[in-house]
Amino acid sequence: MYRTLTLSEQISRSPVTALMDELFQQCAVQLSVKRDELLDTEISGNKWRKLKYNLLEAQTQGKSTLLSYGGAFSNHVYAVAAAGKKYGFRTIFLIRGEKPEHPSPTLRFADSVGAQLHFCSRSQYRDSDFLDHFAQKFGDHVYVLPEGGSNPHAIKGCTEIVTELKMQMGKLPDFICLSAGTGATAAGIIAALDGAAQVLIFPALKGNGLEEELTKMLLGYKGKSYRNWQFIKDYHFGGYAKHQPALIHFINEFKGKFRIPLDPIYTGKMLFGVLDLITQNHFPKGSKVVAIHTGGLQGIAGFNERFGDIIKL
Ligand SMILES: Cc1ncc(COP(=O)(O)O)c(C=O)c1O
Repeated sequence: MYRTLTLSEQISRSPVTALMDELFQQCAVQLSVKRDELLDTEISGNKWRKLKYNLLEAQTQGKSTLLSYGGAFSNHVYAVAAAGKKYGFRTIFLIRGEKPEHPSPTLRFADSVGAQLHFCSRSQYRDSDFLDHFAQKFGDHVYVLPEGGSNPHAIKGCTEIVTELKMQMGKLPDFICLSAGTGATAAGIIAALDGAAQVLIFPALKGNGLEEELTKMLLGYKGKSYRNWQFIKDYHFGGYAKHQPALIHFINEFKGKFRIPLDPIYTGKMLFGVLDLITQNHFPKGSKVVAIHTGGLQGIAGFNERFGDIIKL
């Protein structure tokens, strides 16, 4: 049985941590982190936000099974599998790519909590008819979550980040910074801000088209697309799951200094960018900046397995 949290319970799990450093003093910027990675140990960050109203909807519709899609290292797959175990849903996934000889820690976890894993080729995965047909095979008791969990229920869950920030800080910050994949988390934040504050969005992927996607999502959700957001495209480090030594060094140093772990795919790149922008005096003096920790820490194990324990735990 799924039980949601009240806003005050959410706030107590996800505090806003102010970071202290000489750099911020020199540049006269206050930087804080909204700690959504602490919302739940397994259903963490924006996955928790995106699942909240989807799980309620699945329950209301009397669905017994969650079905979704993702890659072998997907934070979404991990979180949905964990939610299934915790709240009593069966879980089924279609995983992009042939069955690996050595499954990733994400897939090992999903398997260990009873998820059913199916694999398909990358070209099948790109074929929406194939995906629909896959879901239909399992019948009516299935609640389908899109890849990354991004849909209007997910956007609604992400709007609460702003509601909480207002309550926690008394006043909204001047800038909200976050990482983006599909843009649904950003859409929720922008929709809730309704024109207040500036949103800096750091895409984890190389490539274009996300602006159009985000505009479409906002128009669909709110009927408006707003102007108080901007993509910062200089910090994807070569694209999804790509990295460079400077990023790894930054993540390890950040954890040592502020006791906040970052993942190498999303939050590490975003905070690298935020600190770099502070150094460049991008933010006017006196600015209050909040970076959203969208989670993703489960990905460190898979990253370290592939690249040799380079991120310190
Ligand atoms: C940890 C983390 N941060 C940020 C994002 C990006 O979220 P969105 O797809 O809503 O842009 C993702 C991916 O879904 C993620 O796993």
